[in-house]
Amino acid sequence: MKILVTGGAGFIGSHTTVELLNSNYEIVMIDNFSNSNKEVLNKIKIITQKDFVFYEGDVQDNILLEKIFSEHNIDVVIHFAGYKAVGESVKQPLKYYENNLYSTIELCQMMEKYKVKKLVFSSSATVYGQPDKLPIKEDSKLMTTNPYGTTKLMIENILKDLAVSDETWSIAILRYFNPIGAHESGLIGENPKDIPNNLMPYIMKVATKELDNLNIFGNDYNTHDGTGVRDYIHVVDLAKGHLKACEKVLKSNGIDAYNLGTGTGYSVLDLVNTFMKVNQVNIPYKIIDRRPGDIASCYADNSYAKEKLNFEATKTIEDMCRDAFNFIKNS
Ligand code: UD1
Repeated sequence: MKILVTGGAGFIGSHTTVELLNSNYEIVMIDNFSNSNKEVLNKIKIITQKDFVFYEGDVQDNILLEKIFSEHNIDVVIHFAGYKAVGESVKQPLKYYENNLYSTIELCQMMEKYKVKKLVFSSSATVYGQPDKLPIKEDSKLMTTNPYGTTKLMIENILKDLAVSDETWSIAILRYFNPIGAHESGLIGENPKDIPNNLMPYIMKVATKELDNLNIFGNDYNTHDGTGVRDYIHVVDLAKGHLKACEKVLKSNGIDAYNLGTGTGYSVLDLVNTFMKVNQVNIPYKIIDRRPGDIASCYADNSYAKEKLNFEATKTIEDMCRDAFNFIKNS
């Protein structure tokens, strides 16, 4: 079984590639390294002791895409490639709409041409915007609060239209909650080049003393300790969710969306305190104002993914903190 992974050198893409190779799938990967590192390719090979085919380039490059589809009999495509920084998307919306939408449309056109109609798409819990009810179910109302989120929702809608137009398509939309952690080998993980926007990468830079202290955005939310609550999921669990989604699209037609979360919410302070305890490091922090656009709480109802994909996360918040720190110490 041959899988094309777009954006496979990225944080979630690399961990998913490891799980796929470990399960004996053949991998063809395309990545332009816009937010990743070439060394990741070797690290994947070291972890798995397996090889794969790699193309450096952009999913919007039609000539390259045509070459890939004509050279390989692809069975399933997992589409990770895309820009993902919320703040940057607010400042440069056209960059986000252009890249995330065009690449998906061109990819789907090429898939249609080569009759490869099985797709797993990286979406995000960001499509729920400000949720009315917790835990969040897949049929909750969808709305977005930033251009990045809007690209995800627009793509979901494009894919739904596509599945309606031709019932031989089989598409799994995966709505990720907050992926953190790293591979237990310490060889791959998340290490943003710039000052991180997300909580765990920021904590890691404070732990390694690259940054002085963490700013906690508000402690006056209606949560158990006043800080924001999120559903953190270990990236290796998330990666395994993609294998389940591949199995699903291989055996059924149509389109469906699935939450990939643990179903449990932890606050910023829960995560910081667990990180300090598990890793025996200090994370100095200051409470500052709320970050505009943030919500108090967000966590998944994961029963649909359990029922339909047979997927359940198994790793704990301690595992996430330990593996994240182990990776950053190694890199
Ligand atoms: C954001 C994105 C989401 C994306 C996710 C990736 C939105 C609105 N948010 O989610 O789409 O999938 O990142 O993981 O689209 N915090 C601090 N200090 C910091 C950074 C964060 O206190 O320096 C707090 C935040 O206020 C929040 C929590 O930590 O309560 C998590 O924040 P973050 O890691 O940025 O993720 P989200 O905002 O949930």
